[in-house]
Amino acid sequence: MKRVPEIKTPLPGPKARAIVDRDRQFVSPSYTRDYPFVMARGQGAVVEDVDGNVFLDCAAGIAVAATGHAHPDVVRAVTTQAQKFLHMSGTDFYYEPQVDLAEQMASLVPIKGPVRSFFGNSGTEANEAAIKLARYSSGRFNLIAFLGSFHGRTLGSLALTSSKVVQRKGFGPMMPGVYHAPYANCYRCPVGLRAESCAAECLAFVEDQILVHLVSPDEVAAVIVEPIQGEGGYVVPPAHFLERLRELTRRYGMLLIADEVQSGMGRTGRMFACEHFGIDADIVTVAKGIASGLPLGIMSARAETMSWTPGAHASTFGGNPVSCAAALATLELLRSGLVQHAADVGEHFIGRLRGLMDKHALIGDVRGRGLMIGVELVRDRQTKERATTERDRLVQELFKRGVLVLGAGRNALRFAPPLVITKSEVDTAVDIFDDALGAL
Ligand SMILES: Cc1ncc(COP(=O)(O)O)c(C=O)c1O
Repeated sequence: MKRVPEIKTPLPGPKARAIVDRDRQFVSPSYTRDYPFVMARGQGAVVEDVDGNVFLDCAAGIAVAATGHAHPDVVRAVTTQAQKFLHMSGTDFYYEPQVDLAEQMASLVPIKGPVRSFFGNSGTEANEAAIKLARYSSGRFNLIAFLGSFHGRTLGSLALTSSKVVQRKGFGPMMPGVYHAPYANCYRCPVGLRAESCAAECLAFVEDQILVHLVSPDEVAAVIVEPIQGEGGYVVPPAHFLERLRELTRRYGMLLIADEVQSGMGRTGRMFACEHFGIDADIVTVAKGIASGLPLGIMSARAETMSWTPGAHASTFGGNPVSCAAALATLELLRSGLVQHAADVGEHFIGRLRGLMDKHALIGDVRGRGLMIGVELVRDRQTKERATTERDRLVQELFKRGVLVLGAGRNALRFAPPLVITKSEVDTAVDIFDDALGAL
């Protein structure tokens, strides 16, 4: 039986090094590669590099490979569809996989009443569609987003994104009409309060500042929120933050857009993160895990909100039939036990990580739902000084030991494995994490 993980060569190995060298010459330098993992193949939560080194994958291609690498059901659905036709453009023609998927999304997304869906290829496209629909259907043009959020990198969604300055630097003035408010990060309360006695006071910034000094409420089309903040550090807000936000948007007739690109499709142990907080949205955006790795982005909205006319918005490749087939197979797996599995294994994972807090003072906070787990590293638990370089070193130490993870925010590390990861694989990952922390 294959040992997992198993590192057989110095990293990177000779074949990986040769590919990385060519990549450095020909591929855009804008990508952020933290370590030289060069994929050859994968199965479930285990991936192998081109030199035969075997790793445990706790990154899932940025929280994408929901059903694990090369799940046989997904591969079968993809090949069956590919043998029939690869493309026809759902913009100008019809095909059944796109309708099937839209029909299923209508019954799954946290939106009340009839729902219709628009298809793109990525998370940023889903959010672009959400921005356009919100403006179009409301006749209002302003948007409110949250600090630390990530909604994509095309110029519309980039104006909403406020995760890291490097993502915005050098790209000139952003799309106008976007206002940012503090997100409910209770570990580092943006308004200096204590989580136990707070009623989401950070939202007062929207009501008492933005809507008083900057923009009239009746000119705000929508508020966009990640129900659990992803790239910003895997931050779980208290339920009353989202409840109060929902109430606020209703009061002012603004649409609520839930960006479930990272938190959706079972990752948090529920189909959508909104379900943890009992809130519904007017528009929901989905991508990443929906098609187990094939490119697909979906913007679902209340049918009455989706009031735009033919020609108002479309995409040549959006809702590609092979991607839709992969998504239908993914949904089948999610519904038939994988979401519950993510909840169970995630609870075990979080429990084991919290257990390490007694041993490693560097761990300031362990948070998350299901298999969307963040570990924030601090130099001092009282001052919460951010352990930024330590986080970066830890990512390297884990790679050297055969565990793939990604950072999130300035000093957090995320565990976002394929949802099929087993408890024993989680135990292996946590034991290696323990060892890597010891090595710092
Ligand atoms: C919450 C959220 N929204 C949108 C996006 C953008 O998705 P994509 O990279 O597919 O454009 C991401 C990507 O990380 C995300 O996490």
